Amino acid sequence: MRKILVIHGPNLNLLGSREVDVYGSVTIDEINKDLNKAAKAKKVTLEIMQSNHEGDIVEAIGNSKGRFNAILINPAAYTHTSVAIRDAISAVKIPTVEVHLSNIYGREEFRHTSLIAPVANGQVSGFGKMSYLLGLEAAISLMGKPR
Ligand code: DQA
Repeated sequence: MRKILVIHGPNLNLLGSREVDVYGSVTIDEINKDLNKAAKAKKVTLEIMQSNHEGDIVEAIGNSKGRFNAILINPAAYTHTSVAIRDAISAVKIPTVEVHLSNIYGREEFRHTSLIAPVANGQVSGFGKMSYLLGLEAAISLMGKPR
């Protein structure tokens, strides 16, 4: 099994038209296409989901044990609020990489705190679509290792 669960959090379905000055014009489909291409080259399979609902994300993480070797997640706004997503990641002990398109530390103060970062293996923030591709590389290198 060489499988990675990719999770896009709330409002990321709107990429391309949403706050283009912050997130650029890249769409979620373009990100997914590039992720799949990079994964294929490394002989890794991706399962990709987007949800605007915290519970869906919690359940997907909770069900990932034994099915995925790593998780790549952009928790979006839940980064700053979700104890439930943090606890789910902590519970499954699957290597997890947190990514953000924007540099959350260069934005409003409420975005400077990530509840996810302490339970993730690491974080990539501020490189647009490249954050996902760098994050995927990190996730692949962590596959099979305990968190
Ligand atoms: C984001 C940053 C978050 O603060 C914000 O709520 C998002 C997107 C990013 O990718 O830059 O929705 O996670």
